[in-house]
This record gives sequence, structure tokens and C-alpha cells, in this order.
Amino acid sequence: EPLKSMVAKDEGEHEEIDDGKIKVSIFFGTQTGTAEGFAKALGEEAKARYEKARIKIIDLDDYAAEDEEYKEKLKKENIAFFFLATYGDGEPTDNAARFYKWFVEGKENREENWLNNLQYGVFGLGNRQYEHFNKIGKVVDEDLAEQGAKRIVPVGLGDDDQCIEDDFEAWRDSLWPELDILLNDGDNATVATPYTAAIPEYRVVFHDQSDALITANGSFKANGHAVYDAQHPCSVDVAVKKELHSPASDRSCTHLEFDISGTGLAYETGDHVGVYCENLIETVEQAERLLDLSPKTYISIHVDNEDGSPFSGGSLTPPFPPCTLRTALARYADLLGSPKKSALLALAAHASDPSEADKLRYLASPAGKDEYAQWVVANQRSLLEVMAEFPSSKPPLGVFFAAIAPRLQPRFYSISSSPRISPSRIHVTCALVLEKTPAGRIHKGICSTWMKNAVPLEQSQDCSRAPIFVRQSNFRLPSDVKVPVIMIGPGTGLAPFRGFLQERLALKEEGAELGPSVLFFGCRNSKMDYIYQDELANFVQTGALSELVVAFSREGPTKQYVQHKMMEKAADIWNMISEGAYVYVCGDAKGMARDVHRTLHTIAQEQGSMGSSGAESLVKNLQTTGRYLRDVW
Ligand code: 2AM
Repeated sequence: EPLKSMVAKDEGEHEEIDDGKIKVSIFFGTQTGTAEGFAKALGEEAKARYEKARIKIIDLDDYAAEDEEYKEKLKKENIAFFFLATYGDGEPTDNAARFYKWFVEGKENREENWLNNLQYGVFGLGNRQYEHFNKIGKVVDEDLAEQGAKRIVPVGLGDDDQCIEDDFEAWRDSLWPELDILLNDGDNATVATPYTAAIPEYRVVFHDQSDALITANGSFKANGHAVYDAQHPCSVDVAVKKELHSPASDRSCTHLEFDISGTGLAYETGDHVGVYCENLIETVEQAERLLDLSPKTYISIHVDNEDGSPFSGGSLTPPFPPCTLRTALARYADLLGSPKKSALLALAAHASDPSEADKLRYLASPAGKDEYAQWVVANQRSLLEVMAEFPSSKPPLGVFFAAIAPRLQPRFYSISSSPRISPSRIHVTCALVLEKTPAGRIHKGICSTWMKNAVPLEQSQDCSRAPIFVRQSNFRLPSDVKVPVIMIGPGTGLAPFRGFLQERLALKEEGAELGPSVLFFGCRNSKMDYIYQDELANFVQTGALSELVVAFSREGPTKQYVQHKMMEKAADIWNMISEGAYVYVCGDAKGMARDVHRTLHTIAQEQGSMGSSGAESLVKNLQTTGRYLRDVW
């Protein structure tokens, strides 16, 4: 993108201006926008507090591209803050991946204390339920100190399992006294300028439907773009849809095939696909009623003033193309997530009933912390449920889309096909999310419900379409086909292994001599949710898979899980590992992957007759040499 790098360079030159101000850089690594939102909120408030500061908010991907550039720029920083989310198996977000790799992996080669001009703070975003809680934030915090930078406040450990906004606010409040010293000669800036965050707002233009200027239909600008990514997805047909559970099952799992022929979109076995789906029409209609607006209202949203001057709207998610309100609500608004406190404040600002406004402000205040945690978060109250409780609040659309409803995010799935067998189709294996919340609402997962309801091309020319893009993963078969392979994937964790096995089948048919392989699969019951049963049998029959081991958790008198089956096969697993096997785990990170990880330890201890620390370093070693790979969520 030549345009983007030109902009970045220009900004770089401005940095040299000596206006006597102290440079404060706020970096963010964000996936769904939360880290970015916090970065901007900190920036806005700091701007209001400290005249002396020159504050910049920076997407880590826009900062620098290679070693020298990173070094040169970081050396010139005075005060820097890092908002860094941790994802999946302890990984950085896509936009922080390059910086993280450079910063952490290259640290040995840098001069001692080369960052001693820098004072910094790190706020991590993670979830305590996961094994690598806030790994990225913690590592960057420690490595900055190790390289000579001075920590202003202890690393913040935001926990999305509880209320991450509270964690952020607590961390931010611990920061002000320190910044008062650095940026306000030790005076307390809070008293001088009491600060309330501005409610962000887009400028909205309502169009007559016959408005000749409006041609876009609200879809992403997709085709004609050389590389597809989250900002430039590729709109594709749903070619095939199948239910994978038998009618005896009370749950549902959808097999979907996206047709990518002729699009230029390509993928590799083990990659992920990002899918933009739409809200159910019943959800959209409810939102239309709550907003009290016609679905046919045609809108365009803008982030500048009518005369083109910059609009002081606070932190905003990027706008979307002109479309009807119905389309905007279906495609761009997350209506079923729990509203953030900042959203409650925006709703309060537009509530005509003062008692409703007070209650909303209370929920968002420090005093209402427990009630928010209980009434909103623990009860999984959706934005629409909350709006229904405060019917006098009628926010204008510019506020609704900028400050109340977050952007609907793409959902990621492990691709369940291999391009060797299926070059023009991307297969997805998706379990339906359908649960009753503590408040009694039936929650239908947005994307899994969309997939379950999709109309495939084989059924109708007027089939379902979705903007999609491919995200590369490191989940790859060993390049040497003779290397043994151990795969562990219960439930929809089977998805990438179906791709692996398709690939091995294709290799076999080309005459390759494959090394041994074993798949541990788990489901509840052989007659209900044993997905792809026939295909798995076929992989065994053709020799693409040497051994299939299945754990049924709800058939016998006791639960059988994949890790129990692994213990039964401990000697075989140990032999394969000793012969250089790759170990792959896919599926639920909180329960299964953690238990399987422990089981690997146990197997190493028992079979390798080693102590706990020996087993630990063996498993670590498998991990660092890329022989133990996890695709977990
Ligand atoms: P359960 O639902 O009967 O507890 C796919 O979801 C399979 O994984 C199911 O059979 C499920 O069993 C099982 N499962 C649930 N928790 C697990 C864990 N911690 N480790 C391994 N398998 C698990």
C-alpha cells in the first residue's frame, strides 16, 4: 500500500519538530478494537490534562518495518505506552506480530541499555481462563526493562473474563500521579482540568433513496483488490451446506463450503478463514424498533465536518459504506454482545427519562461496579436487552454506530479442507452456539447461526454470500512426509486434521510413502456427534491415517476423553515422539488443550522415566522446535 507508507513517512518528518513538548507515544496491538479503544481513551484524556505533551496514537503495524527503522525510532521515544492483547495460544494480535517478533527475538543483538531514554507503561489485554494469560503484555513489559527502559507503572493485566474496562481504569488512575510528575512539574493535573470523555459520534447524512450519488450497496469493496485481508475481504458464495450431527443429537454442527473459484483467494492446509456474517433478521428488527427508525432509511456516515475539516468525534471505529439502516444493523453492528460502560454513558446522554439516565450512569460508575458486573456481564445481557430496559434512550445513529454498538467482528475458523483435494472450496466445520443466558435469553451465536441458516448454491441460485479472507497459521504438516504425526482434536477441533488427512491422502495417491500417523478424536456419542465418521474410516482404509482412536464421553458409565485414550496409548505416543513425531492439538483451550498438555507431561515422565522438570523441558523443547503445535480457542 504505497499511500499508507507515504503518510507514515510524512508523519515521521513532523516528529523532528522541536516545539518544546514531550513526546508521548501510545502504541496498540488490537484484534477486535478493545486495545485500540483504550489507547485512544488514554490519549484523549492525556491531551486534555497535559499541555506539555505531544501525544500520538500508533497502530504497531504502521510504526516501522525493519530492524534499523525500529531501533532508530524507538531510541527517539520519551514516554511510551503499549496496549497489547494476547490471543489464542499466547500469541500477539496480527497487527502487533511483526513488532513483537522483532522486539523479543532480536533483543540479544542489541546494545546494552539502548532504551535508557525511554519511560514506559504496558497494559495487557487477556483472559484469565487461558493458559498464557497476558503473555504478550508481560513479555514486552519485562523486555523493555531488560533493555534499559524505565517502567512508570507496573504492567496492567486486563482480564476479559471479568470487567476489562475496570482493569483499564484502575491502571490508568495509577498512572496519572506519575504523569503529573513527568508532564506537569509534579502538579496534580486532575484538579486543574476535570475530565469527562467525549462521546464519539459520526456525522450521518440521511439520503433520499433516489439520491443519484449513492451507488454503493453497503458491501465491502472487495473485488479487484490484489490481497484479501480483514479490511478487504472477498465476497464468495456458499456452495454446499450439510448438517454433521445425526437427528438423534440435540445439538448442531454445520459443514459449509465457500466457493473461491475465480477470486484469486488461495489458502494452505491448516490456515484459518475469517468470515463476516450477518445478524439474524429478528435481531435486526428488534434494533430497528428500539432505535425507532425505518429500516429503509438510507444513510452514509462521515468522520469529517461538512466543509471537510476534521471532526472532533473522539475515538471512532472506521466508518462503513453507504447503505440502508437495515443493512448497517445486519452487517456492521454487534447487537448481542454486552454493552461496555462507555456505551451505557452514551445511552444515558440520549435518555429522555432522567431516572433511566441516572440508572445508566450509575451502572457505568465506580459505585455501580458490582451491579454492572452482575446485571450486565454475569447475566450476559446483550446491548439490545439493555436498550429494551431503558426505552427512553433514543441515541442518534451517529452516536449509536460510533459509541454504542461495536463493529461486528469477523469470526475465525480453522479451515477443514486441503487445497490439494479442494482447491476451489474452503470448508468450514462450525458447531452451533445456542444457549440460555442466566437472564433467560436464548443466545444464538451470530456466525454459527448464520452458517446453519445459510442457503447453498446447490439449493438456490439466490444463495448466501459472505465476505471472507484467509489468515495464515503456523499449523502445518512436517515437510518430510515420513515424519510421524500425532493429532489430537475432539469436537470441531477435528477441522484442521480433516485438512491434514486430505493432504496426506493426496500425497499418498501421488505415490509418497507416508510416515505413521494417529488421530485422537472425541465426541459425546457414536450415534449423535461423530462428525465425518465415514471420511475418517476412509482415511484409515486408504492409509492416509495409520490409526484412529475415538473417545466417547457420554456413552459408557464414565467419561472418556481424548487424554484418557492418550494414556492408554502412552507407549506408542512416546515411541513416535522419540522418532521425531510432530504433535498437534486443536480445539478448546481452556479445558481440553490444558488437560492434553498435562497428559503429554505425564507420558514423558512415565515413559521416559524422567522427573517432572525433565518432562517439562522436553515438552518445552518440542514447542520451541516447532514440533508441538496448537490451534486453540
Ligand atoms: P463432554 O461434553 O461430554 O464433557 C467434544 O466437545 C468432546 O470433547 C466432547 O466429547 C466433550 O465431552 C469433550 N470434552 C469436554 N471437556 C474436555 C476436556 N477438558 N478434555 C477433553 N475432552 C473434553
